[in-house]
Amino acid sequence: METLTIIQPDDLHLHLRDGAALSSVVAATASQFARAMVMPNLNPPVTTVEQALAYRNRILDSLPSGSRFEPLMTLYLTDNTRADEIAAVADSEHVYAFKYYPAGATTNSDRGVMDLTKAYPLIERMEKLGVPLLVHGEVTDVDVDTFDREQVFIDRLLAPLLRRFTTLKLVFEHITTAQAVQFVTESTGNIAATITPQHLLYNRNSLFNRGLRPHAYCLPVLKRETHRQAVVRAATSNNPRFFLGTDSAPHARLAKENSCGCAGIYSAPCAIELYAEVFEAAGKLDHLEGFASRFGAQFYGLPVNKVFITLVKQDWQVPESFPFADTEIVPIRAGETCHWKLLTNEK
Ligand code: DOR
Ligand code: ZN
Repeated sequence: METLTIIQPDDLHLHLRDGAALSSVVAATASQFARAMVMPNLNPPVTTVEQALAYRNRILDSLPSGSRFEPLMTLYLTDNTRADEIAAVADSEHVYAFKYYPAGATTNSDRGVMDLTKAYPLIERMEKLGVPLLVHGEVTDVDVDTFDREQVFIDRLLAPLLRRFTTLKLVFEHITTAQAVQFVTESTGNIAATITPQHLLYNRNSLFNRGLRPHAYCLPVLKRETHRQAVVRAATSNNPRFFLGTDSAPHARLAKENSCGCAGIYSAPCAIELYAEVFEAAGKLDHLEGFASRFGAQFYGLPVNKVFITLVKQDWQVPESFPFADTEIVPIRAGETCHWKLLTNEK
């Protein structure tokens, strides 16, 4: 049987939620990934190191006993972020970065930044102290077409930002377009990008496949096929600027199957298997380890994991749903087949 053994991967973009929802989902990620960059868009958001450390403890308390999973924490940048919070992040052992959400862009982003240029003094400090800025790269202007929001973000906000802060460490999160791939590839700055399984596997037809498909809805929204192909080429290229971040974003079934359904795809139960499928289809399985297990750690200055995982080429069916707090959640590929299966954690 065909197998693939790689260094245990890290998920460098993850939503874990809080409370009972957190307890429902964290084990799925911890069974695949050694570490994860945990997004701060709780309600209310995580805006201080103190809050992030308390959230980290709640995550650790929710893990199955014996788990060595390590949550890497982030803070939510707001219009009211205090300058000394940046120094606090730089000094923190457990908090790694600030996350920029444009106000109104996505789940719990009401407290996001209204005008990025107003945050320039804070970003200048991040640049000086080497604190990474993680960006949700979309504009939210109502006059900009939903499918164009990433490329307009590049032109209007990202390019000017990086012209001004030439040594800023920045991660362009969950990229979805050929323009984002090109921008990251050609940049002379200290920048990288995360890539999700859904943007590698699916194009926007999946949203309208014989009916409206709320479980395929995430933000940034799935794009047309030519963009998906560009994102696959980037992920599988062995360029260390592109690395794994699932953006697994759990919402209860009824919050998605709703007249105003939430954005987010829950991929934690089969994430590494789906990435393996994409790399195999591209004929680049030998590049999976860099993308999944090395490049993200290198970007963040973390040691590469010492544990290995083994994937086996074997069909299995993803469950239709999982328990989620007092309700249920529908994962990516629900009721459908995955072609790779995670076997063991070799110590
Ligand atoms: O689809 C998404 N879901 N995109 C995001 O940016 C946020 C996330 C969430 O937290 O649900
Ligand atoms: Zn996200």
